[in-house]
Order: sequence, then structure tokens, then C-alpha cells
Amino acid sequence: MTHTIVVDRCTDPDNPDGTVVTSRMITEDDTVYGEGDILIDVTYSSLNYKDALALRGTKGVARTLPLVPGIDACGTVVDSDSDRFAPGDRVVVNGAGLGETRAGGYTGKLRVDSASTVHIPESISTLRSAAIGTAGFTAALSVDALTGAGVSPQDGPILVTGATGGVGTTAILLLASLGFDIVAATGRVAEHSDMLRELGAAEIIDRAELAEPGRPLQSERYAGAVDTAGSHTLVNVLAQVRWGGAVTACGLAHGADLPGTVMPFILRAVKLLGINSVDAPPELRERAWKLLSEHLDQAALDRVTTIRPLSSVAQAGEELLAGKLAGRTVIDLSA
Ligand SMILES: NC(=O)c1ccc[n+]([C@@H]2O[C@H](COP(=O)([O-])OP(=O)(O)OC[C@H]3O[C@@H](n4cnc5c(N)ncnc54)[C@H](OP(=O)(O)O)[C@@H]3O)[C@@H](O)[C@H]2O)c1
Repeated sequence: MTHTIVVDRCTDPDNPDGTVVTSRMITEDDTVYGEGDILIDVTYSSLNYKDALALRGTKGVARTLPLVPGIDACGTVVDSDSDRFAPGDRVVVNGAGLGETRAGGYTGKLRVDSASTVHIPESISTLRSAAIGTAGFTAALSVDALTGAGVSPQDGPILVTGATGGVGTTAILLLASLGFDIVAATGRVAEHSDMLRELGAAEIIDRAELAEPGRPLQSERYAGAVDTAGSHTLVNVLAQVRWGGAVTACGLAHGADLPGTVMPFILRAVKLLGINSVDAPPELRERAWKLLSEHLDQAALDRVTTIRPLSSVAQAGEELLAGKLAGRTVIDLSA
């Protein structure tokens, strides 16, 4: 028997002429979802911001209905038409349309494309690969982009925004392991400063300091930044980065707009680096997972990871959107 979460349109109980989008768990005999050249037994998925939106049926994420959400799928290959994978291999798929345009990881048996599938590194358990998930993978892509742009620990501190979130916590762990000084920006200073320091942040600032419109160029504080927020937050971050520094942009937790000027680019040669985990090519996927296997403090990741059963994923999604969760949430497919 496999358990699957399906998001679909159904009759509105309060208005029989209308419809609402709901998610529900169904249990079936070995039904296979998805398409692709390898079949995996999914043991864990995770909960990301996008998953929380998909569980509500939000159109920009749930692009087709009915949909099995879950932008991450972690498990074991049971059937393969690909030379790269054999039954028994432990694998992870992040993004690649899972849980958005095609069936995702909230089901036990899933077909996926080998081109977007990565072997889970030997040193990482399948459970931890889900704890890393798209958020950790995106953090790794961000850190890889920063170092690739020439930012190194001796250049100065790195600012991480959305610090208590999935991307933020993993980015702090990776940057700390690489020897960077980290400043963490959070909206929950009182609640989470201790956790952020334990992860490796040297200084904690209130995200309110970055939330309002500011001057196009401000005091140069950072050698670089991992931004998950966008909007005025990202514009203020760019205005505080030193000459030649770099900022990665992966998220829109504050907003999708970019209400700034070109001043940081043309007067300080600051680089703005876009991060897209969904369509990352195979070599970038391999590189990010290698970085995670070599530099992620997995015991520290465990301390910010919560495991929830598949049956509670819709509730967990609502908690995430209400800002009540921190760190990473793994979804256990067996429960
Ligand atoms: N480009 C990609 O491929 C990609 C991949 C993964 C995620 N993302 C995006 O990256 C962002 C972070 O993802 P995540 O998985 O880390 O999400 P998450 O776990 O929900 O964390 C987001 C964090 O953003 C902070 N935040 C919330 N509202 C904010 C606001 N108004 N201004 C500034 N910060 C705010 C909060 O941290 P504090 O309470 O600490 O401030 C929150 O914990 C999301 O927008 C997500 O969609 C993009």
C-alpha cells in the first residue's frame, strides 16, 4: 500500500455550485505516479515554501490539477532504463517540476527523469538528504555561486537573510564550515538568536533594519550575501555590499519586486547572482551535492530538522506559511 497526497478541485461544501481546491491523503495498491526513465520508492520528501503553497492549490505553483505535491523526492531506485542508475541506488530529485507541473514526492512510488536525479552521496543518509531538500540544495547553489564569483572568507562577512528558514539555516552551516564570518538577518531575533549562533552566525540583526526603502549606497558592511527575501531587503543588501562583492538572489519571502537603482552595480561593481534550483543542469546538481557532502555539519542540521508524517503535511504547510516553523521539515512517507 502507498500513501499519496493529492491536491484537486472539489465541490465547495458551503456552496454546491462552486468549487474549492483541497488536499487529501489517499491510500492505494502500488499506484505509480509521474513519468520518466527511473522508478523510485520514495521514503522521504520535505516541506518547502513552495510545497506549502501547492498544498493550498496556489496557481503559480500548482500548475496542473490534480497534483501530487512535493518538490523533493528521496528514496531508492527500483527500476531503471538509464545507464547511470541501477535498482538499489539511493537517489534524490530536487525541483525539476516535481510538485508543480508533474507529480512530486508526496507519494510512495514515483517515476522521474534520470537527468535531474542525483546519487545521494555516501556520507549522507536518505533521511538527511530530505532534511537538506530543495532548501539546502538552493543554499549550496548560492554558496557555490558566491565562491565562484570570487568571494572568500578574508574579504569580510556574509549576510544571510531569511536566516531561520530552510535556505538560510543551511547557508549558514555551509558558510561557517567554509570559514566565513556570518551575519544573520531574522524577524525572530528574540526567539531564534541562540539557534542561529549555534549554527555558526557571529552576529544577528533584525530584518526590520533592511525592510524599508533606503539610500542607494549605504555603509559598506558585507563581502557578499545570500538573499532569500527580495524587494527592499535585497535592495538594501546590495547597497551595503563592498566594492566587487556578490549577492545571490533565490527568494521572495519579502516580495518579488526589486525597487532599487543600478548604483551598487556601476559604482561598487557589486554582482547580483540569480539562483534557480528547479532547472539546474546535471553538473550543477552534482557540484552542489558534493559541496553538501563535504561541508555540511549534519549533526547541526539534525538539530534544526523536524520529521512529520505524510498525514500531517497540509497542517505543517499552514504552520510554515504562518511563520511558525524554523529550520527544515522532513516528510516521512511511511506514516
Ligand atoms: N530560486 C530557487 O530555486 C528557490 C529554491 C528554494 C527556495 N526559494 C525561495 O527562497 C525563499 C526561502 O525559502 P525557504 O525554503 O528558506 O523558506 P522558509 O523556510 O519558509 O523560510 C523563509 C524565511 O524568510 C523569512 N521571511 C519571512 N517573511 C519575510 C519578510 N517579509 N522579509 C524578510 N524575510 C522574511 C523568515 O525568516 P526569519 O523569520 O528568520 O526572518 C522565513 O523563515 C522563498 O521565497 C522560496 O520560495 C527559491
